[in-house]
Amino acid sequence: MKNVIILGADGYLGWPMAMKFACENYRVTVVDNYLKRKIVADTDSTALIEGPRLKERSEIFQSLFNFNIEVNEGDCADANFMDPLIERLQPDAVVHFAEQPSAPYSMMGRSEATTTFNNNLNSTFNLIWSIVKYSPNTHIIKLGTMGEYGTPNIDIEEGWIDIEHNGRTQKFLYPRQASSLYHTTKILDTDLLWFYARHYNLRVTDLMQGPVYGIFTDESRADDRLLPNFHYDDIFGTVVNRFICQAVAGIPLTVFGAGGQTRGYLNIEDTMKCIALAASNPPKNGELLIYNQFTEQFSVNQLAMKVRRACELLNIPVEMQNIPNPRVEQENHYYNAKHTGLSDLGLVPKLMDSDVICEIMSKVVVKKDEISRKRALPRVQWKTS
Ligand SMILES: NC(=O)c1ccc[n+]([C@@H]2O[C@H](COP(=O)([O-])OP(=O)(O)OC[C@H]3O[C@@H](n4cnc5c(N)ncnc54)[C@H](O)[C@@H]3O)[C@@H](O)[C@H]2O)c1
Repeated sequence: MKNVIILGADGYLGWPMAMKFACENYRVTVVDNYLKRKIVADTDSTALIEGPRLKERSEIFQSLFNFNIEVNEGDCADANFMDPLIERLQPDAVVHFAEQPSAPYSMMGRSEATTTFNNNLNSTFNLIWSIVKYSPNTHIIKLGTMGEYGTPNIDIEEGWIDIEHNGRTQKFLYPRQASSLYHTTKILDTDLLWFYARHYNLRVTDLMQGPVYGIFTDESRADDRLLPNFHYDDIFGTVVNRFICQAVAGIPLTVFGAGGQTRGYLNIEDTMKCIALAASNPPKNGELLIYNQFTEQFSVNQLAMKVRRACELLNIPVEMQNIPNPRVEQENHYYNAKHTGLSDLGLVPKLMDSDVICEIMSKVVVKKDEISRKRALPRVQWKTS
């Protein structure tokens, strides 16, 4: 039986991933320190759908699926917590979700930036050292982000680029220039992972993931109490989830600036498939594998139109509103990112069509009255004078 640890398993992606691995007959151990729930309370960013804490969720899961998930509460940045866990379990793989993932939160001010910086860098750094010391053959599967690359005026390669200079060539990490402190911590993580993979022969996969949308996976469809925590707010909500909630609540879809910002997106079910594929295809010792983890690219305007079209099928009228962009980012730019690595491993994507959007809406609509206009609008400006 393969043995996996999921770090950050109380989160949007970590919990469904834990259930998926358990159902695929992995021995699953999960970890969280509930940092996200604390930030949610501090920033008044209540989830629209919020599951119970991990102990209770794993009991519900076991009663329905008859698979055990071992729960540990602790901080991945704490060596006294991580060392004994890794030494005891000798995992085949560790999936590392345990970071502060909100770009707006990381741009709120010095204190929030410090929390993001310290938490994200130290959780990755500490995991690396626990693996080096106690289980050096473990495959580290790290969640990075497509935001590491920024929006360069050239094609985005899958992690690496061959550079020719003065007649000589060398393969380097693709140049990265992020547009938030959060995304910059992910760049620094990648550098740490690549340094230690080379230095200590570690096996690492770094997944450059685009914004995820959706709520349903095979397991969460079984019982509402197994749904992942679902946010639409400006701090933790991703854009598609937010647009769907705005549409249901009769709030105009808030397109930041010109709306030409283009990114690669994927359904939460595809996140599960991608990580399972990464786990089944580990790198060699000393190798850092990088995949661009998204399935289709859209501009913000195109996303808003997609949500509007799906709503028309349900006779829900939807307005779109261009509002001043709270972020500092290009609003019209070239974007062409490769993403063939995971398809080559067998990923068959679930693409964003009206049926997919309407299925998410079916869950949101029953909570329509709980959607707050204030939380759905941007509260954080990238630059304040
Ligand atoms: N959701 C997306 O669209 C998306 C896109 C690209 C990349 N990612 C990355 O995927 C990962 C998971 O994203 P998510 O949306 O599930 O985030 P999330 O905030 O919902 O989940 C992260 C979990 O990690 C926990 N955590 C944070 N620091 C911790 C620590 N030091 N010790 C223990 N637990 C800790 C949090 O409490 C939270 O439950 C993140 O690293 C994020 O940067 C997410």
